[in-house]
This record gives sequence, structure tokens and C-alpha cells, in this order.
Amino acid sequence: MTKGTYYLTTPIYYPSAKLHIGNTYTTVASDAIARFKRLTGYDVMFLTGTDEHGQKIQRIAEGKGLKPIEYVDPMVEGIKKLWEMMDISYDKFIRTTDDYHVEAVQKIFKRFYDNGDVYKGAYEGWYCTPCESFWTETQLVDGKCPDCGRPVEKTSEEAYFFKMSKYAPRLIEYIETHPEFIQPESRKNEMMNNFLLPGLQDLCVSRTSFDWGIPVSFDDKHVIYVWIDALANYITALGYEGKNDDLFKKYWPADVHIVGKDILRFHTIYWPIMLMALDVPLPKQVFGHGWLLVDGGKMSKSKGNVVDPVELVGHFGTDPVRYYLLREIPFGQDGLFNNEIFIKKINSDLANDLGNLLSRTVTMLEKYFDSVIPAPTAREAVDDELIKVALETPVLVEKLMNELKIPDALEQIWTLIGRANKYIDETTPWILAKDDAKKERLGTVLYNLVESLRIVSVCISSFLPGTSLKINEQINAEDTSWESILAFGATRSGSKVVKGGIIFPRIDFDAKIDELNRIREEQLKEAQKSQLKEIKPEITIEDFEKIDLRIVKVLECEKIKGSSKLLKIKADLGGETRQIVSGIAKFYKPEDLIGKKVILVANLKEVKLKGELSQGMILAACTDDDSALELPQIQGDIPTGSVVR
Ligand code: ME8
Ligand code: MG
Repeated sequence: MTKGTYYLTTPIYYPSAKLHIGNTYTTVASDAIARFKRLTGYDVMFLTGTDEHGQKIQRIAEGKGLKPIEYVDPMVEGIKKLWEMMDISYDKFIRTTDDYHVEAVQKIFKRFYDNGDVYKGAYEGWYCTPCESFWTETQLVDGKCPDCGRPVEKTSEEAYFFKMSKYAPRLIEYIETHPEFIQPESRKNEMMNNFLLPGLQDLCVSRTSFDWGIPVSFDDKHVIYVWIDALANYITALGYEGKNDDLFKKYWPADVHIVGKDILRFHTIYWPIMLMALDVPLPKQVFGHGWLLVDGGKMSKSKGNVVDPVELVGHFGTDPVRYYLLREIPFGQDGLFNNEIFIKKINSDLANDLGNLLSRTVTMLEKYFDSVIPAPTAREAVDDELIKVALETPVLVEKLMNELKIPDALEQIWTLIGRANKYIDETTPWILAKDDAKKERLGTVLYNLVESLRIVSVCISSFLPGTSLKINEQINAEDTSWESILAFGATRSGSKVVKGGIIFPRIDFDAKIDELNRIREEQLKEAQKSQLKEIKPEITIEDFEKIDLRIVKVLECEKIKGSSKLLKIKADLGGETRQIVSGIAKFYKPEDLIGKKVILVANLKEVKLKGELSQGMILAACTDDDSALELPQIQGDIPTGSVVR
């Protein structure tokens, strides 16, 4: 008998880089929820997968001289291996390159078009390739992607558009009448105030400038925008628009989509609107968790502070990593990953509290009762308090998990562990053991400890599945069902414990920190070596000759009011005067430039920047993060207007 169905999803991952501990977090948290729902009687569908199309993947593959599919295949295998290592119990893994998904997405897109939700137009704007996001001029922040701060690319192409605005009023009303839809609450306000209430623009939903995507079935020079393709996975994985939609009928609407806060916008605006257009019910909840930060802020390759889950598990094991992520990061908020805190937590919570409780209990049973679990025939008043906590724990844990309060649920379990350790100190079994008349009492104490451990073990099985199995083995737990821990006493007296190894060896703090620091320094060095930005795809000499580079001499130069970055330059181009707006004010004072000969891209389309006309662009050498910039200059007598080639 099940309590019902429970459909939970993680985002599908871009197979574009090795996953770090931050990406891993989403899936570990989702796994704990999925396991808990299964444990407490639900028929669970837990979906994860990979998001394999798009410009970003195509470019990386090209850069490596591979076809996109040749590049993604081994990456996807790597992701699956990581999930195996992290003990992720997904029920289904979808790849957006799977045939059934491709076909279903084409049908979905066709439906949008046939119903008039999608129309053909032309796109003029900016594209952030790392985020696969479109932006308008006004949305950019300092000319960069407002989400990630990286440079954007000007894009102008024929494209299909989705009439987002048509559904905005319905979505606003839905969000307002379903307070549980966007969680945590604060994220709901962010979505409403920053995106929905200011008004939605129609979304560009196809691209023609590359081809690694799902073709529009009725216009195949277009590929479907990767986010439309990706979001649809949550229903195509269940057979929606496929050969057999039994799973869709059974599990949809999703109970919860777990996502990081960076992609909440896509899940709470575009996705529900897509579903409205398909006349499919909306998911019950989208939960946006916070960001995992490391010392020094965001993880980034260039900072050399990316934490690799495979290495971490190599040092500490799967369950300690899961424990840290689930217990230390407030679910819904940003949290810190830090080796010092991590090792302290392993030593205190895992090795001391839980590990010792197990080894003391099993060791005493071995020593005093030949490993046979005695019957609890001599109860005393002190037992009541332990039993009370043991009985409360599952109830509280279930309540907290229903609210997705993962760290609080773990804290509750550790309250029981703490209570059991205190019970050992209160009952002093080693003293009872000295007195033959107290044998029955001693047996009862040890029974209560084994039974408490069994309850702990069932409770932690969703969070630390490997550890739970090890404990079950040592205490020879027979019934590990959720129902069995709602009463105290399912441990069978007469069964035998099996002393095993230490489940969490203590870590030598100083030695381990030294070791990790050494490894980190080496990684930093490597990171610096590999700073070289990827070379763009090959062009021909004809492509290059389209660019007309000329020598110009700066005649006048001034700052542009209201901008800390821009200079307005008047320059001589062989007798003709050009006005150029250049983003170099942080590096050059106007007076330093006058008289200098620099290189101009002379045939670049004119633009207006801050209301000023810019007729071309001056070449500059600059670092990736824009912290340093230098203009290449011509020192000799070559006249202005000369060609640079
Ligand atoms: O966004 N801390 O995939 P992705 C916490 N393909 N979470 C983090 C994180 C960090 N430092 N860095 C990344 C995509 N994440 C899309 C999803 S779904 C239809 C398509 C999380 O590989 C991020 O928020 O870039 C997301 O939940 C997950 O890692 C995968 O990110
Ligand atoms: Mg991302």
C-alpha cells in the first residue's frame, strides 16, 4: 500500500564541465528527499539527466575538434559515475539527445506554433552563451550578462518567438493564489518583482546561427531554444507526446522541482507558461536552493578554488560529504563549503557522536552478553526519557522533511543520538557489569541502546544510506521499515550483534589540512597555467579580410558624463575625422591619449553608446576580468589611414 505518488526532479546538467561540489549539492539534496519519501511509503519517481544541446556545448566540442555528440557522450558517463559515487537513487536518467525526447519536443513546439503561441520574427539583442540566455540592451549590467557578469554577444537573426506576455496575467494570479508554488517565500517575491510585474517580453525560442539542437520540424534551419528543449524534459521523461504516457498519467504534476536559485526564473516563468500553453497542469512546487560558496566566494576555475566532489569523496568518503552538504547548508539559502568546518563535523558528529554510540553498544554486548541481544526485562524510570525522544524523533523528522527542512531533520536525529550517549553516561553499564545482581538491568540498558540505534539507522537511511546499512549489519537489524520505528521495541532479543569496523575513523585535523592545502596550491598553479582563453573557431583569410583595421591619431578626447568607463574620442583617419566611444576611461586619462596613434576597426557598424555616436572601435589588449587594459600603439611615422593587416 502506498501513500500516493511523489514526483521529484533535479535540473538536468550541462555536460560542459566537470561537476563541482555546488552542482552535486542539488542532486544530493534531491536524493535525500526522494529516499525519505520512499521510506515513508510513497511511490516515488526521481528524475535527473543531462541537458546536452546549445551553443555552449557546440563551441566546446568544436574547440576540441569533436562532434558535439562525441564530446557529450563521455561527459554524460562521467556524470552518471558521479551519481553512483554519491549514492544517488534516481529512477530515471534522461538525456535531451534521447530520440523520444527529441520527437516529443518537436511535437510540443509544433503545438505552440499551431495554437498561435509561437510566431516568426527577427531577433535583435544580446546572448550570454555560458547561461544560454537572451537579454535586451536595457537588461545588461555594464554591458554584461546580468546573471553571471560575463560578456554577451550581439545576436541578430530570424527567429521564432513565444508570446509570453499573453500568459503573464494567468501566471501572476496562479503565483498569488498558490503561495506554496515558489519556495522559499523570499524567492517568490524576487521573481514577481524583478521579472513578472515589470512585464514579460516575448521570448526568442529558436536559433539559426548554429545547429546543435532539436530542429523545428516545420522549418529545419531553426533549432529550438535550449531552455525550451531542457524544461520539457520533466514531462517527456514520463512519456508525454511519446509512445506510452502511462508514467505521465501516473506522476504528473510534479510534486517538486528542485533547482538552484540561478535557474529559478526559467522554472517559475517560462516553464509554467509552456505548460499553460499545452494545457498541462503546473507542478505543485519549485524549490530554489541557495548557492554553495567556498572561501573566497564563488567557485571558479580561474581562482583555482573549485571543489571536486570526486577528490573530496576520495579523502573523506561518500556519507561524510553527503552529511556536510545536507546538515551544514541551510536548504534554501547560501552556505559555505570549508575544509576546516568539514573535518570538525566529521570528527564530532560522525566519529564521536554516532560512531562511538555504535561501537560502545556493540562492544559492550560482545563483552557482557556474548553478542546476544538480551530481553528488556528490567526497565527503570531513566529509560522513559530516552524512549520518549526515540519515539518523537521519526514524527518530527517526517514533519520537517515534508517542509523540506533537511538540516533541521538531521539535527533532530542527532538529538536522539545525543540522548542515547547521555543515557550511557547516566546508566554506567560498565559499573552494572561488575555486579551479577544487576545483569538484567545491564541487559535492559543495552537493549534500549540497540533499539535506539536501530531507530537512528532507519532515520538516517535517507541521508547517509551507506552508513545506515553498516549500522544495520552490526546491530543485525531485521525490521528497517518506517512503521517499525514508530513504536519502541522491534529489535528481537536473542538475535546477535556483529561487531564490525569503525564506521567513521577520526581524522587527524592538522595533518589533513596540511595535505589539502598542499594539493590546493598545486591546483592553483595548474589553474594559472591553463588561464589561456579558448581560441575561437577557425576563420578563413576571406573572413579576416572583411575587417578593415586602420591607423588613427587621437585629436580630442573627453570623458562622457554619467559614465565611469567611457571616453569620447575624435580621431584623424587620413583626413576624415571619426568619433569613437571607447570603454577605456578606467585606464587612460583623456590628456594621455591626445596625439597617440592607435588601431581602429574602421568598418564596424555605427552604434550609439550613452547617446553618443561611435564610428568604430579601438583595439585594446585586456585581461579576461577587465582588471588591466592597454592600447597597442604605433610609434613610427606610418600615416593615419594606413591599413593594418
Ligand atoms: O543550469 N551552488 O545546468 P547546470 C549550488 N542545464 N548549486 C549550484 C552551484 C553552486 N555553486 N553551481 C551550480 C543548468 N549549481 C541547466 C538546467 S533544467 C531544465 C536545466 C546548480 O549544469 C545549479 O543551480 O549549469 C543547477 O541547479 C545545477 O547545479 C546544474 O547546473
Ligand atoms: Mg549553470
